[in-house]
Amino acid sequence: MSDRFKEIAEEIKVFKASNADELEQFRLKFISRKNVIGELFTQMKDVPNEEKKVFGQSVNELKNLAQEKFQSLIDSLSSGGTDSEDYPDLTLPPTEEDFGSIHPLTATRQRFIQIFERIGFNVSSGPEIEDDWHNFTALNFPENHPAREMQDTFFIEKDPDIALRTHTSSVQIRVMENEKPPIRTLSPGRVFRNEAISARAHCVFHQMEGLYIDKNVSFADLKQTLYHFVKEMFTKDTQIRFRPSYFPFTEPSAEIDISCQICHGDGCNICKYTGWVEIGGSGMVDPNVLENCGIDPNEYSGFAFGMGIERITMLRYGIKDLRLFTENDVRFLKQFNSL
Ligand code: PHE
Repeated sequence: MSDRFKEIAEEIKVFKASNADELEQFRLKFISRKNVIGELFTQMKDVPNEEKKVFGQSVNELKNLAQEKFQSLIDSLSSGGTDSEDYPDLTLPPTEEDFGSIHPLTATRQRFIQIFERIGFNVSSGPEIEDDWHNFTALNFPENHPAREMQDTFFIEKDPDIALRTHTSSVQIRVMENEKPPIRTLSPGRVFRNEAISARAHCVFHQMEGLYIDKNVSFADLKQTLYHFVKEMFTKDTQIRFRPSYFPFTEPSAEIDISCQICHGDGCNICKYTGWVEIGGSGMVDPNVLENCGIDPNEYSGFAFGMGIERITMLRYGIKDLRLFTENDVRFLKQFNSL
């Protein structure tokens, strides 16, 4: 047995630690709770009684030897031992970690939802691969109607019935088919259109659709809701105007413009020197759409609106090229940390 003691004592004495990892190896082997010396203690019960005293003393000596050696290894490493750079100086202040940041489109989506949740809207979603019914027909696009061409559709393979959704208005239909009014819902999501990629357009982008169906919902409710929204999303003095427009699924329909957030009306190339920028479309849900979803248009009415999340984000932060959103340049992304 005494050979084993000598062996361990020798191992402790010659041990060299030139970095923190090696120091840790020493600690695990000789200091931590389950270690070679601890093992000797557990063997004590098998030692004959008359030898127990000497055995115990020897184990204690080894234990002290290991403690002393450990301390001296620490001292020599922290006082610039062989490889002090590997051993952290625990007295230094911590270095700053690089955290990821919230993507600006996510920040805008979250802010959108926050504003509308406070006035009773929930969030709904639907599939990105849609059928003709939900993307077009139920939304009152007649077959072969030129309005279908307004939305350069990506079809899946050769089946004209299945396409990548061109707008999140398809989610409107899914909600109305499955829920009874009153309905107040927001549908954020990715949409796809066969458009050339430029600073202002992309073939994949994000929309936020809003839908409100109840008894006696009027155009005044639509206007007031969007007034509230733009003042919350932008600034209190943001102006809004509605321009008559056409969508198959709303009647009457209006395009939504807000006062330019970049030049505040002085004229710049973002607003093409008009002082106004378009942020989306809106209107009163067409009675045909309500009927298509099994809601009685004589009892209920409602409004809907749809906006591009990219467009809103560009105006919020003064971003001039929407390709930046998908290029993953960390220098760009790092600038956005809040809602
Ligand atoms: N779906 C329309 C578009 O993508 C926007 C819209 C939604 C217009 C709801 C009116 C009502 O252009």
